[in-house]
Amino acid sequence: MTRKGIVASTTLAGLCAILMALPAGIDSARAAGASGPGAAAPRAVAAPRAEGATTPAQASHPAAAPVTVAPSHPPTVATAARATAAGAKTQSDRVERGKYLVNIMVCNDCHTPWAMTPKGPEPDMTRQLSGHPQDVVITAPPQLAAAGVFNWAGAGTMTAFAGPWGVSFTANLTPDPETGLGKWTEDTFIAALRTGRHEGQGRPILPPMPWPQFRNATDEDLKAIFAYLQSIPPIKNRVPQPIEPPEAQ
Ligand code: HEC
Repeated sequence: MTRKGIVASTTLAGLCAILMALPAGIDSARAAGASGPGAAAPRAVAAPRAEGATTPAQASHPAAAPVTVAPSHPPTVATAARATAAGAKTQSDRVERGKYLVNIMVCNDCHTPWAMTPKGPEPDMTRQLSGHPQDVVITAPPQLAAAGVFNWAGAGTMTAFAGPWGVSFTANLTPDPETGLGKWTEDTFIAALRTGRHEGQGRPILPPMPWPQFRNATDEDLKAIFAYLQSIPPIKNRVPQPIEPPEAQ
């Protein structure tokens, strides 16, 4: 086996470990799904995550502009410049931390489409974190023997997964406003990862998205991940809706 092949199998072994841990998650997800998308409870869950009006992210965003107004009000400007420098550092530290976390939490394994290279299959970083490619059309799950040992399957792109939950497609995590997370807030992101609900309040987020593990991250780490995701190049790619398992159709 080539070195690359081993790397790929290790990745898949990790995925299997995640999937082995899933049955409870799948059952509860399906049970929750059975009560319909209108199920009322989850809305309340997002609320406790809300914070005071001045989050660091908000404080740092408006920071850059005022510098050009400098000459007329020197003291104010000096204060503003200091605030800008401090805010910018905090935000860039956060983005750096987010980049580190995204790498060690293997978001690219599932959210970046894999392509064949001379060295073997690898995530195609020109399409970094843009989710299941819209031009790779999947309309039905593969035929898997229900009682067989192999009861789930993954696409070669590593962005589509078929199993007892139907077919799930990894989301576009880039900041594209129409097809990615461009319109998400930090609170939406944290609520989604903590509750396992689409946008923190919708349908259950399907396997193999490891939110049951990621929900244990600190608020600060989730904010850092979100800050990094908002800093990468936006890519327009409309990921399809999941396909229900045959028995649910
Ligand atoms: C093992 C594969 C896998 C890994 C690793 C993974 N994801 Fe996912 N993720 C998925 C799948 C599949 C979906 C789509 C699930 C669905 O449609 O219900 C998803 C969906 C999402 C969503 C959309 C949630 C929503 O509200 O609809 C976000 C946000 C997300 N992932 C973030 C991340 C981040 C950040 C990381 C790394 C820290 C990560 N994912 C790692 C498989 C993965």
